[in-house]
Amino acid sequence: MRQADVIVLGGGAAGLMCALTAGQAGADVVVIDHAKKLGTKILIAGGGRCNFTNLEVAPERFICANPHFPKSALSRYTQWDFIDLVQRHGVPYHEKKLGQLFCDDTAQRILDLLLAECAAGGVDFITGEAVTAVEGGERFRVATEQHHVAAPRLVIATGAPSVPKTGATGFAYDLARQFGLGIVEPRPGLVPLRLAEDTRPLAKSLSGVAVPSEARSERMAFHENVLFTHRGVSGPAVLQASSYWRPGEPLTLDLLPDVGDPDHLVARKRARPRAELKTVLGEVLPNRMAERLCDHLLGNARLGQLKDKELRRTLARLKQWTLTPEATEGYAKAEVTVGGIATDELNQRTMEAHKVPGLHVIGEAVDVTGWLGGYNFQWAWSSGWAAGHAA
Ligand code: FDA
Repeated sequence: MRQADVIVLGGGAAGLMCALTAGQAGADVVVIDHAKKLGTKILIAGGGRCNFTNLEVAPERFICANPHFPKSALSRYTQWDFIDLVQRHGVPYHEKKLGQLFCDDTAQRILDLLLAECAAGGVDFITGEAVTAVEGGERFRVATEQHHVAAPRLVIATGAPSVPKTGATGFAYDLARQFGLGIVEPRPGLVPLRLAEDTRPLAKSLSGVAVPSEARSERMAFHENVLFTHRGVSGPAVLQASSYWRPGEPLTLDLLPDVGDPDHLVARKRARPRAELKTVLGEVLPNRMAERLCDHLLGNARLGQLKDKELRRTLARLKQWTLTPEATEGYAKAEVTVGGIATDELNQRTMEAHKVPGLHVIGEAVDVTGWLGGYNFQWAWSSGWAAGHAA
């Protein structure tokens, strides 16, 4: 039986940050991961360039049953702390848009810096072996296929089930049940939405078209691109709204967020009475979209043939196009999982379970989910640091 100070289950973003923090503070740390390769999600994130944090991190940009919970960790290990680490390792990066920071070359640079920091902290790794048993008591004991490790502290950092082909599992929830911790029902987030049968032909005809829009679920609105797919809608605005969307609820798109005047089409009629509706809509929407919307939804005519009232109604329809998503595209396509181990079970400074001293939960396993744009990695760094610091 290998004796250690801290066992970290899961060597992803949060687990590595926790391990390097505890290790550099002098703790004897063992990271256990069933995957042979650590940090798979870091490597595939941001199209291989890892959107590792965001300049505009704020607690309001995280979804959590207790919106105050993430504040402590986010304020004690901030985006500036992680940027400082990235700079110390000489990793070149840039802001793409909306405060999103990406590596200039490859995400491997982020994984390499975490592993180098773990090495500096003397962290040990057991990888490529399934965990066969976890037991509590005075010391936590973890068995893998070939190893037994015991420690007074155990950190659950096994993430959440989004994109199972990366090795993602719901193991954290199994452990939560074993130790009697509550769970906020998990669901896919940052995920494309599949439309109901009646609107699918229109979506299919628009497949590949992206248009700046506002996507609004019942709780939040996002102004960014909406992308039509052969089964529904995606793109950053929809992915963001999807984390707030619940089955059965509508999703409303404003396809003309920059057209504020309700008489816009009426004014165009005065200027171009012989122009067709689809031509005039092509001034403010991609041409293919203007055509397909006229074919499937609005009808087409010369503006001069349409009453002012009809033109106002047409504009209002485009500014408030209500869709009824049938479902999300599920965990296979979800960048994150919303929900997870309930935050009222955890101390917000240390991420330690109130009822199981020595047990900590960090990263995506916790019921804290960030917006698209580097927020989820920042949560992994901040919560990982908080637990590592405490351990
Ligand atoms: P993470 O999933 O990183 O790590 C969990 C670790 O636990 C893995 O190494 C896994 O192998 C291991 N594990 C799982 N089950 C186990 C078991 N039973 N036994 C042992 N080990 C087990 N976020 C962001 O901020 N910017 C971005 O650009 C992106 N891009 C992105 C792209 C894609 C395709 C996905 C799927 C996700 C993103 N994300 C993202 C989200 C981000 O990747 C995610 O929030 C963090 O990786 C979560 O960090 P964790 O350490 O909590 O889990």
